Amino acid sequence: MKQFDFLVLGSGIAGLTFALQVAPRGRVAIVTKKNRAESNTNYAQGGIASVTSQEDSFESHVSDTLVAGAGLCKETVVRTIVEEGPARIAELIELGMKFSEREIPASRGAHELDLGKEGGHSKRRILHAKDVTGREIEKALLNAVSKQPNIQVFENHLAIDLITSQKLGYVGENHCLGAYVFDKNHNHVAIFSAPVTVLATGGCGKVYLYTTNPDIATGDGVAMAYRAGASIANMEFVQFHPTCLYHPKAKSFLISEAVRGEGGVLKSLAGKEFMDSVHPLKSLAPRDIVARAIDSEMKKSGADCVLLDITHKPAKFIIERFPNIYETCLRYGIDITKEPIPVVPAAHYQCGGVVTNVDGETDIAGLFAVGEAACTGLHGANRLASNSLLEALVCAHRAAQKILAARHASLVTPPIPAWQSGHATDADEMVVVSHNWDEIRRLMWDYVGIVRTNKRLQRAQKRIANLQEEIHDYYWNFNLTADLLELRNIATVAELIVQCALLRPESRGLNYNLDYPDANLEWAQRDSVVRRGN
Ligand code: FAD
Ligand code: SIN
Repeated sequence: MKQFDFLVLGSGIAGLTFALQVAPRGRVAIVTKKNRAESNTNYAQGGIASVTSQEDSFESHVSDTLVAGAGLCKETVVRTIVEEGPARIAELIELGMKFSEREIPASRGAHELDLGKEGGHSKRRILHAKDVTGREIEKALLNAVSKQPNIQVFENHLAIDLITSQKLGYVGENHCLGAYVFDKNHNHVAIFSAPVTVLATGGCGKVYLYTTNPDIATGDGVAMAYRAGASIANMEFVQFHPTCLYHPKAKSFLISEAVRGEGGVLKSLAGKEFMDSVHPLKSLAPRDIVARAIDSEMKKSGADCVLLDITHKPAKFIIERFPNIYETCLRYGIDITKEPIPVVPAAHYQCGGVVTNVDGETDIAGLFAVGEAACTGLHGANRLASNSLLEALVCAHRAAQKILAARHASLVTPPIPAWQSGHATDADEMVVVSHNWDEIRRLMWDYVGIVRTNKRLQRAQKRIANLQEEIHDYYWNFNLTADLLELRNIATVAELIVQCALLRPESRGLNYNLDYPDANLEWAQRDSVVRRGN
């Protein structure tokens, strides 16, 4: 058994920020399932939304967030996160993060932050490092972590399940005591115990066949929290990014919304600027609207993709502002300075998650959730672009402050039984695992995608229930593998997305259901909350 004062599951922006805050006050374990940099954070392109310019205001950022959230954001949470953003960003810069700057016109060489623009923002307010913001943030945070003797990072360690006092049969308030963790290097299950456990496990894009997310995004945190009895909310609000590169050899490569922010225009294959008739903000309308319009355009024309055209901008500007997108597309034979980019929508961001307040507290004592795994109320029914890195920074910081003030770390951990493998043997047919992975991802894409109907949701629900039975048998009879553990989690998350979508009798934000094409006033302020056995 490995004992720590703080157990952090995940090494993206949320987990690393939290770990750095608490490290001066105790021993921290960061458990992460691949190498330490592999995370959604590492692939973030556009940047972090925050008010840093004289021409901008907190009111404007709050208002844009509320509009995008389609009535479901919690305004007090929005305000807190927006207002605390600049201080957290200043700390990130102090750690060594370098955001892109531009020369102030007519200033003789003085520089200021170069602010980008993305869908739904009424001002330029996106701090970025060219088009590789996430990579630079991850690098700065990991560098700071490497200097902290109190932090130990466990790579290739995949958390399986949370350990709670209730599960172990202790009476009294349910308290999280740590987690069982699959050590992939040695093929065994270890106990990590701590009075404070933080879920910073990110999102669940891999539940869908097409996604912008890397392979780590299998919704493990939400699935673990659900199994442990925590409340989960708003999982129906899966954000589809409108512009993922469409190329047979490209695996989930995002074309940042910042490309549209700098003038990129969406066109049909026939060259028609189809967003003109959809929304006054045209190609820069909020994401849910753009993704639905592309879906409709593709269905109408029968085309496999649409086009994103930025060729009217000078080549030098494009190459300097979007070097990663330029070079990656060029590797696939597309010169974005000369030809439009074929794009399709793809699953991108989980707006729902483990229910928390703005300090990351869940309804299980000792269990916190921060970053994409959490549902704080910031995003409502549709996240405003570049608000997620901001939320992760602010909420991870707040969770750390809350915990340090409350002295959680003094709790005594009761005995925890070792992991029981029973009579499990090596799996005879791994094809069951790979087949079920594919089946879930495909059925979620076909039946629980951008446009939904009750019938499709019910179909999906039945099929997921059958698959879960099969996965359950497999889980109990065969030795663990990372693929099997993640399959079990994507099945749970798929179930939760469908369950939440069926709970909501309306179309709002990212949940568009043809059986209820309009918003329902009764649901204007209601989250769809699910709990195990409830
Ligand atoms: P992540 O960064 O995803 O980190 C999760 C961590 O948990 C990883 O280390 C993972 O390995 C680990 N983990 C998961 N499960 C387990 C387990 N069972 N056991 C152990 N470890 C586990 N947002 C913005 O605000 N601006 C942007 O410009 C932007 N661009 C994006 C571009 C792309 C391509 C993508 C995919 C997302 C983008 N987002 C952007 C969203 C944003 O990157 C994420 O929401 C944010 O980085 C999430 O941070 P996180 O720390 O919560 O999770
Ligand atoms: C992007 O660069 O388009 C992604 C921004 C985000 O998801 O917030």
